[in-house]
Amino acid sequence: MSDKKMDKDAYPTMSGAGERRKVGMSTFLIHGKAQTARWDFSHHTVPPLSSSVTYRLDSAERGGRGFLQFGRGREEDAEPVYIYDRLDEPTRSILEDDLAKAEGGEVCCTFSTGMAAISAVLGILLKPGDHIVAFGTIYGCTYSLLTRWLSRLQIATTFCDFTGLDNVRAAIRPETRVIFAETPANPTLELVDLGGVV
Ligand SMILES: Cc1ncc(COP(=O)(O)O)c(C=O)c1O
Repeated sequence: MSDKKMDKDAYPTMSGAGERRKVGMSTFLIHGKAQTARWDFSHHTVPPLSSSVTYRLDSAERGGRGFLQFGRGREEDAEPVYIYDRLDEPTRSILEDDLAKAEGGEVCCTFSTGMAAISAVLGILLKPGDHIVAFGTIYGCTYSLLTRWLSRLQIATTFCDFTGLDNVRAAIRPETRVIFAETPANPTLELVDLGGVV
């Protein structure tokens, strides 16, 4: 992102003392929102790594509120009720909020490894009979996932050279549901015109 664009986009944030400010993207990427219902930054500069797996709910009413927040979403300013670490916890959810904001997205979902993220996305989007078009140059474990594991579920992949968009166009079938590429590609660092592919 150019400096000019960074200056134009002011991101609302707050100091620990509750003072409202606007900062540029570069500052936002370092400090995030700096105040959130998820953590009390006025007393703790950095949120702790959560070591709880399951949280005390105090009452059935508060627990119910937590499950409603998980199922339906939480108003930004509402006090979060944490239930169980995998569902939500402060460290990860603050990162996800800030990444979504930085990317201009609605929500963000982080994973502890790249293969976990790729497996989850493909598992959610695809069903037997669907088809993937993938760049022939991709990370080895992703290649293995497509060719050895998803193929068992009758999900086929056509590999082609994404540095030419005509190749991608020619490989698309009516049952194609995913177009998969890395840029820079691992390991050759070839670049794919993602805007063109979209
Ligand atoms: C392009 C690419 N995809 C996926 C992965 C897998 O990431 P992880 O080892 O975190 O599962 C890597 C790891 O280097 C990668 O370079």
